[in-house]
Amino acid sequence: MARTSRFPGFYKITVAERRSLVSESTGLSSSQMAHAFDAGGLNPEAADKFVENVLGVYALPLGVALNVRVNGHDHVVPMVVEEPSVVAAASNAAKMVRSGGGFQVEVDEPIMTSQVQLIEVEDLAGGPQAILSRKIDLIARANRSIPGLVRRGGGVRDIEVRRIGTPEDRMLVVHFLIDCRDAMGANLANSVAEAMSDELARLVRGRAGLRILTNLSDRRCVRVTCRVPIDVLQTESMSGAEVADGIVNASRFAELDPYRAATHNKGIMNGVDAVVIATGNDWRAVEAGAHAFAARDGVYKPLATWRRDGAVLVGKLEMPMALGTVGGTLRVHPAARLALEMLAISHAGELAAIAASVGLASNLAAVRALASDGIQRGHMALHARSVAVAAGAEGHDVERVAACIVEARDITLEAAKRALECLRRASANAGGAAEFDELSLQDPTDEA
Ligand code: MEV
Repeated sequence: MARTSRFPGFYKITVAERRSLVSESTGLSSSQMAHAFDAGGLNPEAADKFVENVLGVYALPLGVALNVRVNGHDHVVPMVVEEPSVVAAASNAAKMVRSGGGFQVEVDEPIMTSQVQLIEVEDLAGGPQAILSRKIDLIARANRSIPGLVRRGGGVRDIEVRRIGTPEDRMLVVHFLIDCRDAMGANLANSVAEAMSDELARLVRGRAGLRILTNLSDRRCVRVTCRVPIDVLQTESMSGAEVADGIVNASRFAELDPYRAATHNKGIMNGVDAVVIATGNDWRAVEAGAHAFAARDGVYKPLATWRRDGAVLVGKLEMPMALGTVGGTLRVHPAARLALEMLAISHAGELAAIAASVGLASNLAAVRALASDGIQRGHMALHARSVAVAAGAEGHDVERVAACIVEARDITLEAAKRALECLRRASANAGGAAEFDELSLQDPTDEA
C-alpha cells in the first residue's frame, strides 16, 4: 500500500487491525508496534535511568491522527493524550483541510537563542559595541564549545546585545543565535551561554548573571496555512457558509479577548502537545514558547486566526516550535523512537510542521463545534463509547450501545449495561440485533 493517512472506518476496528493497516502504510511491523506501544515502551528499570526516585511508569494512550497532509505529503501522526475526542477531532478536521489541499507550512531555520545576563555593568554605554565589534571572534570561540554541532553543519550564527531595565539596573543581555540542526538544542544553548559568560562580563566590565536558553524561541517559528472549502464544514443543522461565518466570529472573539484567546490556544495545544509528547520532545518548552509568543505584543493573542475568502475558509497559525529528532529522550525511549519513525520524516523542521498542522486541525475542530452544535455533543458521543466499553460491550456492540445511550441522553454505566443486556437478548432472539433499536432502555427494575 502507498503511504496514506486515509483509513475510513479506522475507529471501528480493533487495535490489532489498526496496527496492521498502519503497518501496510508506514512499513513498521505490527510486532515493532507491539514491542514499543503495548506497555508504553518503558519498564521501571528503564524509567529509573530517566528521572529520580522512580517508583514505576505512568501510561497514557497513544493514538494516531489520520488524514494529515502537510506540504503534499501524507503522515500517520502519533498523538499521546488523555483527553477523549482530541485525536478524533484532529483527524476529522484534517480531513476537511485535506479536501482543500492540506496544510501548507513554512518552517524557520532551527535557531535557538541562548541568553547571558550581564549585571553590575560599568560600561553600559560602550558595552554593546565592545561585544558587537568582536562578533566574529566571539562566534568562533562559542563554536569551539559545541564541536559536535558544528561538525553536523550547525553552530552559532549571530550575536545580539540588548539593554534592559533602567540605567540603575546596569544590566545587559547577550543573545547567541544558534542553528541546532535536528536537535531541540536546550543543552547546546546552555553550553554556549556558560562557555561565553566570563569573556562577555570582562568586555563590559560587569559580572555574569544567568546563563540559559530562552524558551521564547521566536527565531524558530512555523507558519501554517490551510484553505478549507466551506461546503465541507456543514453540519446537520447549519450550512457550510453559516459554520464558516461562526468560525470567523470565534476567531474575532479570541483576537479581541485574552480570556477567550487562552482557551482558543489551549485547543491548539491539545494537538501540538500530543504530537510533541509522542515524539519524545519537551512539551513544557513548547508550551512556554507558545504562550510567551502569544503575548509578544503585550496583549495575549490567539496563535491561529480564521477568515473567509469567498467559498473558502482560510486558517493561519504562527508559533515557535523547538523540536528535535535526535538526542534527548529519543535516545532511550523506544515508543518515542517508533512514533518518530512512523512519521517518516528526515529532519526536525518536518516534525515542527506536522505538530503545528495538527494544532491548527485541533483548533478548527474546536471552533467548528463551538460555532455549531457546541462542544458537549461530540464529547458526549465519544464519552459514550468509553462508557459502553466499561459496561462490557465489545466489537460492533460498542457503537450500538453508545448510540443508544446518547439517543436516550443517559450516558451512565447503568444505562450502558441495560442497553448491552437488551442488545444481547435481541441478538439471542430470532429477529436478531435489528430488534435492539426498538427496545427501550428503561431500567427493568424501575417500575415508575
Ligand atoms: C478543550 O480541550 C479545548 C476547547 O476548549 C478549545 C476551544 O474552546 O477552542 C474546546
